[in-house]
Amino acid sequence: MVNTLDKTFLEKSSWKPDLFKGKVGFVTGGAGTICRVQVEALVLLGCKVAIIGRDQEKTERVAKEISSLVDNPDAVLPISKVDVREVKQLESAVKRTVDRYGRIDYVIAGAAGNFICDFNHLSANAFKSVVSIDLLGSFNTAKATMPELIKSRGSILFVSATFHYYGVPFQSHVGAAKAGIDALSNALAVEMGPFGVRSNCIAPGAIQGTEGFDRLIGDASKKKTTSKIPLQRLGTTEDIAQATVYLFSPAASYVSGTIQIVDGAMWHIGTHFAHELYPDLLFKDPKAKL
Ligand code: COA
Repeated sequence: MVNTLDKTFLEKSSWKPDLFKGKVGFVTGGAGTICRVQVEALVLLGCKVAIIGRDQEKTERVAKEISSLVDNPDAVLPISKVDVREVKQLESAVKRTVDRYGRIDYVIAGAAGNFICDFNHLSANAFKSVVSIDLLGSFNTAKATMPELIKSRGSILFVSATFHYYGVPFQSHVGAAKAGIDALSNALAVEMGPFGVRSNCIAPGAIQGTEGFDRLIGDASKKKTTSKIPLQRLGTTEDIAQATVYLFSPAASYVSGTIQIVDGAMWHIGTHFAHELYPDLLFKDPKAKL
């Protein structure tokens, strides 16, 4: 995969080119599709960013690709072999980031896992796996980075979802994890506010070109899904990046404890993939793998 953004982002965007000059980001899942473009935007706007991932080859390749956007090999620091379920590994990643860049101003807790599965097919281990990556991983990311955010009076952004706003079927595991993430972010906004740290969530909708989109919607129902989105188009990774820039920018300096939904208003009329599968999927043999 190549970069989604390029230098024209600076010409056509609402942001001034050096908005994040001198600032440092720390992004888990930073080599994945959505978070990678968030990183691209931050880097184009002058930020240095550490991207944290499990896969060494992928994390290093993506770091090089994003650095090339600003012709600066030092712009992105790849830190691989880190599992967000292990807080010690995140603490080492924070240390490496601070050793290299001196500070951390912006954190994105983006590492996540998802698949479609109803309760009867979902094993206890599968539920635990998603909650551990999404919720515990977000807590661990906040825990490991908070001392640096307090020093810099920085900002943390959690990647949430809209799967817990009502009883979205086939997403009990993710919905439970994301509800926890929203609660965590809100509590951090209150507890960390007096230390000058802002905490917010971003909740993406159907974002095309992402692993999540392929897993939950796929090409077959793309057209139908699009027609059900009030803004009549799928979301893009750039949409999420733009909202991210806003939430980290001084324009949002009084915005904390919020959940920024970026979904073209889709959740108001229901998540389309669930309509397609509900209720037939429930009646498959619970012992069969979906
Ligand atoms: N349906 C039902 N159960 C599933 C599943 C699926 N599609 N995929 C995995 N599981 C179950 C496994 O069977 C296992 O349970 P079991 O031990 O009872 O059989 C459990 O989940 C853990 O699987 P494992 O592959 O060991 O977990 P992991 O911790 O390495 O992976 C996942 C986590 C399952 C979330 C994996 O999909 C992942 O790593 N995804 C990351 C990428 C991603 O999901 N991106 C989309 C972002 S929206």
